[in-house]
Amino acid sequence: MSDILVHTEAGVMTLTFNRVDKKNSITSAMYATLADALDGAVNDAAVRAVLIQGDATIFSAGNDIADFLHAPPAGENSPVFRFLHGIASFPKPIVAAVCGPAVGIGTTLLFHCDLVYAGDNAAFSMPFVNLGLCPEAASSMLAPQMFGYHRAAEALLLGEPFMAEAALEVGLVNRVVPPTEANAIAQVQARKLAAKPITALIETKRLMKKAQQPALLERMDEEGRSFGRMLREPAAREAFTAFMEKRRPDFSRV
Ligand code: COA
Repeated sequence: MSDILVHTEAGVMTLTFNRVDKKNSITSAMYATLADALDGAVNDAAVRAVLIQGDATIFSAGNDIADFLHAPPAGENSPVFRFLHGIASFPKPIVAAVCGPAVGIGTTLLFHCDLVYAGDNAAFSMPFVNLGLCPEAASSMLAPQMFGYHRAAEALLLGEPFMAEAALEVGLVNRVVPPTEANAIAQVQARKLAAKPITALIETKRLMKKAQQPALLERMDEEGRSFGRMLREPAAREAFTAFMEKRRPDFSRV
């Protein structure tokens, strides 16, 4: 079965991470599937809203670390950048249901969703610095804007995880719900959106995002250039190798 399930029903295209044995970490092929699905949905009248979900135990462990080590993304046409541009520019509403760990892009993609429902077991983290990397998905701009600078610094400089209630408090999620109900609750909300006039949804979303959209895309590109370079540098290589070898990284020589 595919690592990303794509299913459209009642106007909602549901994208499900389906690689639970690897904690829904996202490979290049999975980014390509996500990017293609979003791209196709822009002009598909059958899709009026999108739902992104994992299962009750795991949303996503972020980018596949073996991919980072052996086939790091190169350039603007790489699947991960196509996905990030696609989600950041997607004109129709996007809902997310998040349970369990949401690491790296598992958290940063949520900045580009319109509604987020979190299981009370959700644990968000952006450990880019701990991996010798910098933020992506415009999170260096959107996290300080949403959380306030000091809380964003805790999340992005210390890379400390924060739980569902803290995410609710800073406005990253709309509601905290039982994990076994998160996907169903998010599906209900997505279907509510899908039943509304699509032109009004699209215009309202465009207007809400208009002021920050150019700066957001510019920041995403700048982050992408730094991230692409840093992926190939010794600190990140050591962090990825240590993860694969199930040991603590040793940054003393980098
Ligand atoms: N890339 C590749 N494989 C990953 C992965 C990732 N990002 N995250 C987890 N996996 C794999 C593990 O290697 C392990 O594989 P194995 O069974 O073949 O040994 C399997 O998924 C289970 O992971 P494990 O770490 O044992 O699960 P856990 O429940 O103890 O911890 C996480 C879950 C998500 C907290 C932990 O896996 C983690 O921190 N992952 C890395 C997150 C990360 O740094 N992502 C990059 C962000 S930019």
